[in-house]
Amino acid sequence: MIIDPDGEFKKIWDMTVLLVTIYSAIIIPLSVIFKVFGKPYDSVSIWIVTLVYTADVVINFYTSIPGRGTLIHDRRIIAGKYLKSWFAIDVLAAFPVPLVGVVFPAAGVLNLLRVLRLNRLFKLMRISRSLKRLSGPRMNPAIFRLVLLVFWIMMAAHTIACGWIIMTGNPGSLSPVALYIRAFYWTTTTLTTIGYGDVLPAGTKQTLYVIIIEIIGAGMYGLIIGNIANLIANIDVAKAQHREKMEKLNTFLRYRNIPMNISRKINDYFEYLWQTRRGYEESDVLKELPPSLKTWVALFLNKEVIEKVPIFEGASQEFIKETILHLTPIVFTPGDYIVTAGEVGYDMFFISKGTVDVVSADGTTTYATLSEGQFFGEIALLLSMPRTASIIARDYCDLYRLDKETFDRILARYPSFATTIRELAEKRREEINASKIKKGKKSGIKEEKEYSVPDKIKGLAIKVSGSVVMLNWEGVEDFGHYEVARRKHGAKRWVYLDKNLQVTRYSDRHYEKIKYPEYRVRAVNMSGPGPWSDIVALKKE
Ligand code: CMP
Repeated sequence: MIIDPDGEFKKIWDMTVLLVTIYSAIIIPLSVIFKVFGKPYDSVSIWIVTLVYTADVVINFYTSIPGRGTLIHDRRIIAGKYLKSWFAIDVLAAFPVPLVGVVFPAAGVLNLLRVLRLNRLFKLMRISRSLKRLSGPRMNPAIFRLVLLVFWIMMAAHTIACGWIIMTGNPGSLSPVALYIRAFYWTTTTLTTIGYGDVLPAGTKQTLYVIIIEIIGAGMYGLIIGNIANLIANIDVAKAQHREKMEKLNTFLRYRNIPMNISRKINDYFEYLWQTRRGYEESDVLKELPPSLKTWVALFLNKEVIEKVPIFEGASQEFIKETILHLTPIVFTPGDYIVTAGEVGYDMFFISKGTVDVVSADGTTTYATLSEGQFFGEIALLLSMPRTASIIARDYCDLYRLDKETFDRILARYPSFATTIRELAEKRREEINASKIKKGKKSGIKEEKEYSVPDKIKGLAIKVSGSVVMLNWEGVEDFGHYEVARRKHGAKRWVYLDKNLQVTRYSDRHYEKIKYPEYRVRAVNMSGPGPWSDIVALKKE
């Protein structure tokens, strides 16, 4: 049986060992001076500590260890590594020294044993590692170091106070607690270099002890002051960087006399970035990761958007992966035009947070309000036409952008996604057209051409000339461009040959690859594509 070092059992066990270690670090120095107190302080705990420390040695032989990114489960390798590293110290700490006194109860042996029982303190050497493992990688390293520093200072002070009691004994016959507090008081005033001088050493031994502690104290004091200043400055590196960035930015804004309202907007924007992503640019973080980790982290970071957007629901893992890796997060501030009606579109957007309005080109009609989990901007990409409406951010919007190239590739590879998105685009376009017609009628204007899609193409004719099929047709009014599609006779799928043709003719130079091709043409304008022409087939001669 091999124990998982990250498993629940090992965590609980490490916690137990840690508590026992802290407990013995407090009790053992006291037990060394139990003669002064007149009480043995560790008689019961000897067994508990021995048991836990011995079990820890055994458990270490059975716990797999990390090696080159994987876990090593081979017991021989585990034992070899353990024997070479912590084994000796763990065994030393586990040894129940006071029990030797039961076998050799001579006074000299007992005195020696009292000091030797400090062997338990060896286990303290492992404390920082187990604390680190238990707190996990999420713990702020500066706070962790601060906690550890305080712990070591307290441990040192405790041990020095116990040493002082050994040196001075109990001349005032104080109670154990009062005696300890008095010694601890002397320790803190000495270590912090305050030294009121109200507790004085008597005799050479005590004076020597005071000298040593004073020297240690002066060193420790400097160490603490230096460390604490550094640790506090590092507790929140990101926050410090953010503050510095904002100070620089505001200096620039003031220097260049940027108007107050714009400055405020800029500040609000960075504040929003700080609140929502601690100032980190996701794509920058991802850039530094290897591909496998990148996919994993991107999937995790974009989990929300995957969960919120209904088209991802039930979609295959491959489809999600392919899409997610190409989504770029982008933030818009309230009132921003995310998409402007009439412009050429190169990307579509998924809403992760926030609300947007879908507004007509003249800004008078709001067709819809979209929020979390919905998307927009697909019509321009699908139908190669200008944006049908403007999209305005109502509040701060966290969006994910998908570029046209990826969109087209995904569309070709995942037909069910293509169908869903086409249906929705068609529905939205009809809604816009209906709204425009209604508005036209209301204002007394007859249904104008402007509000309708182009007419059906007539007179589509084909002619073979050498290795080229020449198509031509009658032009229609109000066209934006023409689209030509071809398919193999009897096939279901049409393939676009051209999506942005400005003239009423087309030459297909690759028709020979397909036996008996069929063609159709349609015109597209601002309001969308018109109906397809009748199909014309190239017959066998
Ligand atoms: P596109 O034309 O590329 O840019 C504007 C977008 O607004 C459009 O794609 C659609 O995604 C979206 N849109 C248009 N009409 C509606 C509607 N009626 N309801 C919701 N969204 C719409």
